[in-house]
Amino acid sequence: MKTTNNISELREQINTWRKQGLKIAFVPTMGNLHAGHISLVTHAHQYADKIVASIFVNPMQFGANEDIDKYPRTMAADQEKLQAAGTNLLFTPTPDIIYPKGLDKQTYVDVPNVSAGYCGESRPGHFRGVSTIVCKLFNIVQPDVACFGLKDYQQVQVIQTMVEDLSMPINIIPVATVREASGLALSSRNGYLTTAEKKIAPALHRHLQWLAQEIQTNNDFIGLAKQAADFINKAGMRTDYIHICHARTLNPANKDDKELVILAAAHCGKARLIDNLQVQL
Ligand code: PAF
Repeated sequence: MKTTNNISELREQINTWRKQGLKIAFVPTMGNLHAGHISLVTHAHQYADKIVASIFVNPMQFGANEDIDKYPRTMAADQEKLQAAGTNLLFTPTPDIIYPKGLDKQTYVDVPNVSAGYCGESRPGHFRGVSTIVCKLFNIVQPDVACFGLKDYQQVQVIQTMVEDLSMPINIIPVATVREASGLALSSRNGYLTTAEKKIAPALHRHLQWLAQEIQTNNDFIGLAKQAADFINKAGMRTDYIHICHARTLNPANKDDKELVILAAAHCGKARLIDNLQVQL
């Protein structure tokens, strides 16, 4: 696996592959890789001949109260994992390469509606940062397909909407969440959990499953979501939000909707965990 932080070098390699008629899949990450990220690479092999990954801790998607310097950087271990999973090319740019004029002067992409609520409300500016970096990386790599984990369900909808709205010729592949045996979704943030909190955290997924079961026979979506939040709080977490939504628009679900998603975020000690469950009625 070749690693480069140079845009021209990256493009040269990708152009060579394109001239050979090869298909390119892209897996963007912020590093600190776990089995969830690696399953994106494994998945990508089904759709393309060459896999390009990126590691870039994107300052634009961190809020003023979120400490980007504390974000774990594990480059050597990440490179080993990506190589073992069959990644062909790794792009590792620095902020001055991606945002040479600085964040204040950077053109940005804002995806309306799907970016607005839930994590968009709790983390103002977060999805603008995500859509801008993903748009920029897409323009640099120009992949045929790109894989994103469904643990970040709202992020996948934001990116899918951006690709549709801006007519980007890229197939977005959503990949199922990888979970521990306890049900806890794998996340870089799980590293912030103490041993005691690791026992509490699976309550989030457990109560989403409870809620998914309840809404099969009861369409009091608001009342049931509130009950689930109470359960999660009683288990020792602090619910940020839990909502039952239309799976594509992310609008609050109404009783005629059949394709739903339950979106949730909850604090467990220092970690803010997110999770979701898709439900078909
Ligand atoms: O999901 C992530 O790791 C990031 O939000 C992404 C998509 C790599 C953009 O920085």
